[in-house]
Amino acid sequence: MSFRTTSTSVDYVEDVSPGSGALPPRAWYASSDARSLSLNGSWRFRLSPTVDAEDDSFAEPGFDADGWAEVAVPGHWVLQGDGAFGAPIYTNHLYPFPVDPPRVPTENPTGDHLRFFDLPEGWPALSEGGAVLRFDGVESCARVWLNGTDIGEFKGSRLPHEFAVGHLLKPSGNVLAVRVHQWSAGSYLEDQDQWWLPGIFRDVTLLHRPAGSVLDFFVHASYDHVGGLGTLRVDSDVDGRVTVPALDIDVATGEPVTVAVEPWTAETPRLYDGELVTEGERVPLRIGFRTVVLEDGLIKVNGRAILFKGVNRHEWHPERGRALDLETMREDVLLMKRHNLNAVRTSHYPPHPAFLDLCDEYGLWVIDECDLETHGFTEQNWRDNPVDDERWTPALLDRAARMVERDKNHPSVVMWSLGNECGTGRGLTAMAEWIHGRDGSRLVHYEGDWDCRDTDVYSRMYADHAETERIGQGLDGGTQKRRGLPFIQCEYGHAMGNGPGGLADYQRLFEAHDRIQGGFIWEWIDHGVTHAELGFAYGGDFGEELHDGNFVCDGLVFPDRRPSPGLVEFKKVIEPVRIEGDGVAGTVRVRNAHDFADLSSLAFEWSYQVDGETVESGPLAVPALAAGESAEVKLPQPPAGGSGGEAQWTVRALLAEDTGWGRKGHQVAWAQLPVLERPLPSVAPSDRPTASEKLITLGPASFDVRTGALKTIGGVDVTGLRLDVWRAPTDNDAGAAWQPDLRYGLLWRKYGLHRMRHRLDAVEAGEDALTVRTRVAPAAWEIGLNTVYRWTSDGTRLKLTVSVTPDGDWTVPLPRLGIRFGLSSADAVQWYGGGPGEGYPDTKSASMLGRWHASVDELQTPYVRPQENGARPDVRWAELGGLRIDGDPEFWFTARRWTSEQLDAAEHLTDLEAGDTVWVNLDHGQMGIGSQSCGPGALPQYHLLARPAEFSFVFSATR
Ligand code: GAL
Repeated sequence: MSFRTTSTSVDYVEDVSPGSGALPPRAWYASSDARSLSLNGSWRFRLSPTVDAEDDSFAEPGFDADGWAEVAVPGHWVLQGDGAFGAPIYTNHLYPFPVDPPRVPTENPTGDHLRFFDLPEGWPALSEGGAVLRFDGVESCARVWLNGTDIGEFKGSRLPHEFAVGHLLKPSGNVLAVRVHQWSAGSYLEDQDQWWLPGIFRDVTLLHRPAGSVLDFFVHASYDHVGGLGTLRVDSDVDGRVTVPALDIDVATGEPVTVAVEPWTAETPRLYDGELVTEGERVPLRIGFRTVVLEDGLIKVNGRAILFKGVNRHEWHPERGRALDLETMREDVLLMKRHNLNAVRTSHYPPHPAFLDLCDEYGLWVIDECDLETHGFTEQNWRDNPVDDERWTPALLDRAARMVERDKNHPSVVMWSLGNECGTGRGLTAMAEWIHGRDGSRLVHYEGDWDCRDTDVYSRMYADHAETERIGQGLDGGTQKRRGLPFIQCEYGHAMGNGPGGLADYQRLFEAHDRIQGGFIWEWIDHGVTHAELGFAYGGDFGEELHDGNFVCDGLVFPDRRPSPGLVEFKKVIEPVRIEGDGVAGTVRVRNAHDFADLSSLAFEWSYQVDGETVESGPLAVPALAAGESAEVKLPQPPAGGSGGEAQWTVRALLAEDTGWGRKGHQVAWAQLPVLERPLPSVAPSDRPTASEKLITLGPASFDVRTGALKTIGGVDVTGLRLDVWRAPTDNDAGAAWQPDLRYGLLWRKYGLHRMRHRLDAVEAGEDALTVRTRVAPAAWEIGLNTVYRWTSDGTRLKLTVSVTPDGDWTVPLPRLGIRFGLSSADAVQWYGGGPGEGYPDTKSASMLGRWHASVDELQTPYVRPQENGARPDVRWAELGGLRIDGDPEFWFTARRWTSEQLDAAEHLTDLEAGDTVWVNLDHGQMGIGSQSCGPGALPQYHLLARPAEFSFVFSATR
């Protein structure tokens, strides 16, 4: 005898179809007058280990859910319940389940959700229309019952799904039951590099649909830049009228009207308020007139080629995952605008629709990307890839339609993207064809299509500088179609940990070649999860059997949205006003690098610094240049006084008035122009080293007589001063396995640069100098650095000159080259040099020369996985712990309460325990940072090669 117990009621989970029962997709909008009821809030919740561990009876009215837990909707259950509801899983591209599409594991966490609600007072009677239940996002598959009736099931996690429910509603005692499965056939289409986070993570809303209400509508608002005219036509499934008071427009739906308008651009986001009125409903419209075309091989908006200065944005909140509230979305947009960004790729799914409203309002170009990625199939050479298997095509088309229909009325959206990292296939072609047919007013993007069969733009990720340049020059070959298309980097500048480096070098290429229309940094925010013991958790911290570690923390802002130095650097690199000039001649050349806006919103200011102190400042009259124009401006006479020191001009472009995103005075762009060079510190050696039984004294300093080790300077204890070449490798030093460049972070360890030994060869007390000769080298290798420390003094100050001569066959650059030492009590730091934040050879565009101060703790950059950080570049002098150090030449300054070795060993910030000693690094050189955690390494000009070097520091006691 044989029997089957397999339930057929759960077949939908592993069914390749997008679902059943949902209404056709349509535009997303908030009605002016139709009622709605948010069903967000606390829902009753029960978690089961499999799809069919529990039957459907919980959906029946009268079911007793008393013993159930509660979860917040919107939310992910794995981020709630203090671990009682499972845990998040992070994988980059590996599916965390066996690849056997469309089958998923039997262990399939299933969350039953219950929401009880009454219709609010005044909710219209059934006879006055219907009602729609809208889910804005559920991961990954849901089945829905209202008052015991099964109304359908759906997949497509970051896409809206609506159900007609009017006939099922009761004035009170409604029971909404939603069964959510973590894994489904849809999971194969959602292999984005992010946490797997099941749950109802976007809003759930009940919408009253009055008779004669708006169904779907499409706002067509184009701009003719030659005539300055906008043409508006609103197509609506239900006839009605369209009004735009500011333009005196009052036309029927479907009827075009052309009037003089101000166009919408990301720089000048002019929106006109309007209204669509049908018999049963009024819908507010926010209309932006703009025309996007591909012309002369370029992406043009309103007749002009645009340059994307963009970022890839995942939705992320360290506590709530992808359940974002409006304020968090606004914070993202404001931070972007304040850092000169002009574009967002919504990697790799359509965002919460409110985010696009904000992009319309504040002005950002958007590449709206479909919720689609099948990257894990790369592990089997893309065999069985759903995007090349027609059984899946309906699901792909459903996803394309849900994105386009939902978001088609946003002026900010200029391109549709089919998805990310899916290889190639007929399903993608079908999506592109459908999108082109439905919306000819925007371009189609997909990175995986290197032949550009389906796309309107040649897009790549992480192309290195050399290749980018070749593409810019049109020397990259490719299909005939591709050769005629513009180029963008939909991802570049991998912002994992310290970095990305090399952004300025990219930007120069982007601006030098018309064909290159910019790019999008990977990515906006670190997806660290707030964690009681670890600070921010990353992959592996929840015991995942497969994970990709901190590869999920690769953003320009930290998980709590504090800007990382990478964002500050990017802001400088992409500033929309270029200020150059000749400080000695007192002339400045200002170029308006906007694509559209003139400079009337900016006020310019000059200031003059001597030795980093501002001695005078004033306004600088700069004409309101049109986009692309430049002008020469004369600076005033340099102020008198302060002569003899290093002098420079600083010129800034500031917001002239408050705007929607920034206050008056907010700095948009700046430059510094040197006038007088710094006089180098000089110490005339006059003191003679004198030895006693234990010590050698020289000027203010004492040394160990046997080892020549420095012990004190003017009463300040100094420990362990010696040559240092080690830095805790950054994520970009370590590099990714698939990158072609050498992975120096690994080679450094192979060659033992983290365990250098210091052999003492001689301590020589001479006429006017104490000389200590050493050889610094790692066990097992013949390479070494012959290092001579030469100490001199004029009686009050102490000068150290370090001479380094590499020995042996050095095939790797050095991480750093300088000295390090410990101070026993140091906290406040002052310095004259680059600041206020950190900078490395290829990340210091934003470093401003000035006088800065910070505590030792404030000098640390809190990368989620600890690594080298916090160096201040171009430092002339620094003061801390009772010492002043003047550099000859300038140096990189770092101070921390732990050693580089401790920093290297730490996996989370909470592993770093402050000791009593502050470890100071004064570096003559630092290795560049690059972007090799997913991209090219540091360019050769930023390599710190092992070469003969000599550098000096002058120490004096300050107390
Ligand atoms: C890309 C991918 C992104 C992300 C990035 C590395 O290949 O599109 O989703 O994984 O690499 O962080």
